[in-house]
Amino acid sequence: MKILLLGSGGREHALAWKIAQSARVEKLYIAPGNAGTNAAGENVNMKATDFPTLKAFALEKGIDMIVVGPEDPLVQGIFDYFKADAATAHIAVIGPTAKGAMLEGSKEFAKEFMVRHNIPTARYKSVTSATLQEGLDFLETLEAPYVLKADGLCAGKGVLILPTLEEAKSELKEMLGGMFGDASATVVIEEFLSGIECSVFVMTDGRHYKVLPVAKDYKRIGEGDKGLNTGGMGSVTPVPFADEVFMEKVRTRIIEPTVNGLQEEGIRYQGFIFLGLINVKGEPMVIEYNVRMGDPETESVMLRIKSDFVELLEGVAQGDLDRRTLEFDPRTAACVMLVSGGYPEAYEKGKVMSGLEQAAQTDSILFHAGTAMKDGQTVTNGGRVIAVCSYGDTKEEALAKSYKVADRIDFEKKYFRRDIGFDL
Ligand code: AMP
Ligand code: GLY
Repeated sequence: MKILLLGSGGREHALAWKIAQSARVEKLYIAPGNAGTNAAGENVNMKATDFPTLKAFALEKGIDMIVVGPEDPLVQGIFDYFKADAATAHIAVIGPTAKGAMLEGSKEFAKEFMVRHNIPTARYKSVTSATLQEGLDFLETLEAPYVLKADGLCAGKGVLILPTLEEAKSELKEMLGGMFGDASATVVIEEFLSGIECSVFVMTDGRHYKVLPVAKDYKRIGEGDKGLNTGGMGSVTPVPFADEVFMEKVRTRIIEPTVNGLQEEGIRYQGFIFLGLINVKGEPMVIEYNVRMGDPETESVMLRIKSDFVELLEGVAQGDLDRRTLEFDPRTAACVMLVSGGYPEAYEKGKVMSGLEQAAQTDSILFHAGTAMKDGQTVTNGGRVIAVCSYGDTKEEALAKSYKVADRIDFEKKYFRRDIGFDL
């Protein structure tokens, strides 16, 4: 079949790499893709949110399935757009309806959903400028630090964690006053949970589900999880604390109530559910829902799926996911992200990259995140540049391989964290 994959990051390169391995695939297009995805399929210069252009392309090329990488097209209703039109209704779209995508698109919706279905999550209150005083009063009932979340999508920047009550109150006013535009017109105030986080990826056809390998990502720019938040500096799978006992709790208390809850509420959902979980003294709680795969978790997770991924995607679209097989590679996979110096603040692009051919001779796998081709050379084209992923019998072995390759690839002002997996 013919597949169109949407997105342009390391996550999409990893998905493209895995999809391209399937015998079911006749042709893979990636829109817009990057300098790496071209090796797995054909890049097409279209925006993932430009639905009319995607529709015309899908009809012209006879696309059978659209796999959506990032959240924006989902929140903007790509599933509904294709299903509502008789000409495109036959095309499988992997992802939820716009209503289902609100699990990520609105923190308030997600919290209300969790409360309705008894899913463990932090205590919260949702406020607007009309109910500011209630928010200030609620903050008084919490202990430091304080968590404030913009309700809407903010490209991963909408969560503030404040050390004092005074700062929390003043930032709450700033947020409601438009710090993140309309996205923070509603703010969710949450109790702070302490524990270690992990990412659980669920594929669902709306009734059945399968759980992909559990991963952990490293969001901060600095070693020891210090400094500014980034899009992600590395990832590891499996996660030792997500053992059978923990995962049984995740399935019965979180995944099943989520899948059943969506069904009971009549919300069509055929795609990925990404559970951002925190382990609070052995008890899993939901920090957030996302409606797509994680980046850079996908870069390691794809290495550990032995089964044909496209068959699983077909199961998602056709409603028979229970009859598909999902087999894991027992090894550890670890990925280290090379980034541009200065990221996540200002950084330069267009730096010529060297060592890529040498790296390709090793058994590490490279997933491009922000690269481009210029005059026949690969150059940097983003903050996160390339993910170096490796297998190992242990976490240490996988990471040692990735670091060896990370040292060989070079570009001006390259930076990466040398402590990925330190807390596992
Ligand atoms: P997000 O941008 O939604 O991924 O949130 C950013 C990060 O904030 C999460 O990965 C957590 O580390 C942290 N966080 C969010 N909510 C809470 C909470 N209730 N307690 C502790 N940490 C939190
Ligand atoms: N790695 C976290 C995310 O993709 O949101």
